[in-house]
Amino acid sequence: MKKKTKNLIVGNWKMNPETVSEAKKTAGAIKRGLLNIKKTEVVICSPFVYLDALKSFSSKKTILGTQDIFQENSGSFTGQISPNQARQFNVSYSIIGHSEKRKLGDTDEIVNKKVINVLNSGLKVIICIGEEKRDHSGEYLSFIKKQIFLALKDVSKKDIENIVIAYEPIWAIGAKEPMGTSEIHEMSIFIRKILREIYGMLGDDIRILYGGSVFLENAKSIMVDGFVHGLLIGRESLNAKNFVEMIKDIDKI
Ligand code: PGA
Repeated sequence: MKKKTKNLIVGNWKMNPETVSEAKKTAGAIKRGLLNIKKTEVVICSPFVYLDALKSFSSKKTILGTQDIFQENSGSFTGQISPNQARQFNVSYSIIGHSEKRKLGDTDEIVNKKVINVLNSGLKVIICIGEEKRDHSGEYLSFIKKQIFLALKDVSKKDIENIVIAYEPIWAIGAKEPMGTSEIHEMSIFIRKILREIYGMLGDDIRILYGGSVFLENAKSIMVDGFVHGLLIGRESLNAKNFVEMIKDIDKI
């Protein structure tokens, strides 16, 4: 990992909040609260409908992202949004392959097409991977490996700096507790090895995040003891006060 690479904290707002005024209020409080951070990059992945209202959120320290994006850039695709459309609202990142989208039908093949479309459009991609459950024979490890290989199929080395991998064990999403930090550490080593298999030592430049029940109380220890370069945060990213405090804490690492 290049020394200068910043830690990355991503807030995934999912289908929240309910109104545009709440979205503006939360984003405003986050931006104001983080004016003095130095070593952390913060991305808020808002619902598409709020992007226009939030476009001034994007700055050197805080950045806008989307929670998904379609695999084509033009054509008759009812209900879909292309990377070029999203980019007009100062969006720089897109989450692809979140388990909640995979559950709604995004196969590994679709995830791969979306990853390629996002990268070709000049956006950065946060690729979510994660097993549904664990087993004693370690099947989940082959599952994770396959997910990474398929998501990155035909993605060339030149795109490496625009790729982030977010490991989210599905059973830890929306739960009470995150995965233990020693297991997070193990998974970050395992994922790093797979990235080296694909890209050689250049694979070390891809940031690996952890997601799943990250809160103010556990965020810093997940980063430090789990040896990850950032976090993907659902619920706690809608609580501006806690989110800001958590990031200020992480910024000191
Ligand atoms: P959570 O969600 O932090 O609320 O568990 C994480 C995610 O789904 O990305």
